[in-house]
Amino acid sequence: MKYNIYKSIGFSILSGLIFVACSSNSKKSDEKMQATDTAVTVVTDTVQKMASQNKMEDPGKAVFINTCVVCHQANASGVPGNFPPLDSGSWVGREPTELIKIVLQGLKGEIEVKGEKYKNAMPPQAELTDNEIASVLSYIRSNFGNNFDSITPEMVKKVRAKIKK
Ligand code: HEC
Repeated sequence: MKYNIYKSIGFSILSGLIFVACSSNSKKSDEKMQATDTAVTVVTDTVQKMASQNKMEDPGKAVFINTCVVCHQANASGVPGNFPPLDSGSWVGREPTELIKIVLQGLKGEIEVKGEKYKNAMPPQAELTDNEIASVLSYIRSNFGNNFDSITPEMVKKVRAKIKK
């Protein structure tokens, strides 16, 4: 989505520059075209950089949006009484092993998160790869008011292997 926004911003700037350069009937139009070329390169580079930075930003964010947001909500606030929050004060700061197990095996039964009781069921998300689980948990643990150590794919791999036994 954002990439498209950058792209359209970039193209708008480009079209503007090309229009200015082409509509000018100065004798120095060659020089102008050269200047435009340079400007075009600068703009294209910037747009590409912005897009790749955005992509590199956090791979866990994509997993979060695709997998967890439907229940836990985009701002991780959850839905009181139905889906518990993942923001500060939730279980997100607990032991990595416990969190990895929740994602791999799901969770059901009565629990209490931030003083609110929940008696619902989270389905297992075991189809996610070790990388995806590590990155989504790390993303949550460093956003939404959380500030906890990240979780590595190796940790997920170990927990997954233990569960299988
Ligand atoms: C279909 C809805 C659903 C999806 C999708 C889902 N969860 Fe949950 N999650 C729940 C429910 C419901 C509970 C509480 C279960 C209970 O009441 O025992 C829960 C509990 C949790 C908890 C422990 C309690 C807390 O809020 O701190 C964590 C951590 C968690 N989920 C993380 C995730 C992560 C990470 C993802 C995405 C990879 C995810 N969940 C996807 C429904 C969901």
